[in-house]
Amino acid sequence: MDLLTALDALFVEFEQALAGAASLESLEALRVDALGRKGRLARIMSRLPELAAQARPAAGQKANSVKERCTALFEERANALLAARESAALKRFDPTLPGRTPWRGSLHPTTLITEEICAVFTAMGFDIVSGPEVEHDYYNFEALNMPAAHPARDMQDTLYITGQMLLRTHTSPVQVRSMLVRRPPLSVIAPGKVYRRDSDVTHTPMFHQIEGLVVGNLINFAHLRGTLTTFVCAVFGSRTKVRFRPSFFPFTEPSAEVDISCSLCGGTGHVAGGPCRVCKATGWVEILGCGMVDPTVFAAVDYPDSVSGFAFGMGVERVAMIRYGINDLRMFFENDTRFLTQFVRG
Ligand code: DAH
Repeated sequence: MDLLTALDALFVEFEQALAGAASLESLEALRVDALGRKGRLARIMSRLPELAAQARPAAGQKANSVKERCTALFEERANALLAARESAALKRFDPTLPGRTPWRGSLHPTTLITEEICAVFTAMGFDIVSGPEVEHDYYNFEALNMPAAHPARDMQDTLYITGQMLLRTHTSPVQVRSMLVRRPPLSVIAPGKVYRRDSDVTHTPMFHQIEGLVVGNLINFAHLRGTLTTFVCAVFGSRTKVRFRPSFFPFTEPSAEVDISCSLCGGTGHVAGGPCRVCKATGWVEILGCGMVDPTVFAAVDYPDSVSGFAFGMGVERVAMIRYGINDLRMFFENDTRFLTQFVRG
């Protein structure tokens, strides 16, 4: 068969074969067989040198036209098959079926409590600030009146990175950083992650704290008491009792720890089944440490002697445990959604 007749035959046979193809896959197979790089058209055209030189351009044009017409036919047929496939799918679609309810996430109790505590303090005029989790020894210890070899450093099992760099053991370094960039008066609150080399039923290597700092003229212990009592009543209810117990922190003098009446047993120390687990039958639970900023800390940030201030720090998971009556700290970190989805914004 001469080359031009072979081209005509290719078109006719391709058209017939397409008409018989029932699926997109077999359609594509036919296209490859006829027009593909090693297909029939390519094989026919490889015989071009058989023709006299002056007959070749016409043969080339014919080959192009056959290719174009075959492609057009292929597309027409493919579109028809696609449309048929879609309308078959639509016929199977049952619009009366109930929709799929998307799974809704929820905020982690640590996030909820952090937001709630921050809202209480911002309502009192505090600014929210933050600092780095990878911290320099100077801000975490030194400037907070804990020079190298200070025994208080032992209280905080530190995770060191290299040399002077460490994972902050508390949010108190943000106090120092805030005072270095602001002038008094100031009132800031600093929520964030802290790290300690500690892991058991009541300790995790990472947990959350919120630090607070107020500095100004004539700030005294009454301001501290008033501010923290307001906070306790806002988060735990206005009938909650608050007590300040003398304590020690290197960066405050005097220092105190704050206990509140146990919300599980109402401060009685006993629940229906016996002694209260949350407060270990004492009726009180400790929720934070606080005190008047030590003058040594003010000196480290070059604040004048005339200012005074108070600071406090609390563990967020601890506040959440007391508030929600959770007795196992590990629940916060196991990512069990049955536990996590129970908490809603209060
Ligand atoms: N940084 C202390 C800790 O992690 C908590 C603390 C106590 C912070 C007293 C303070 C404070 O600002 O005044 O245990």
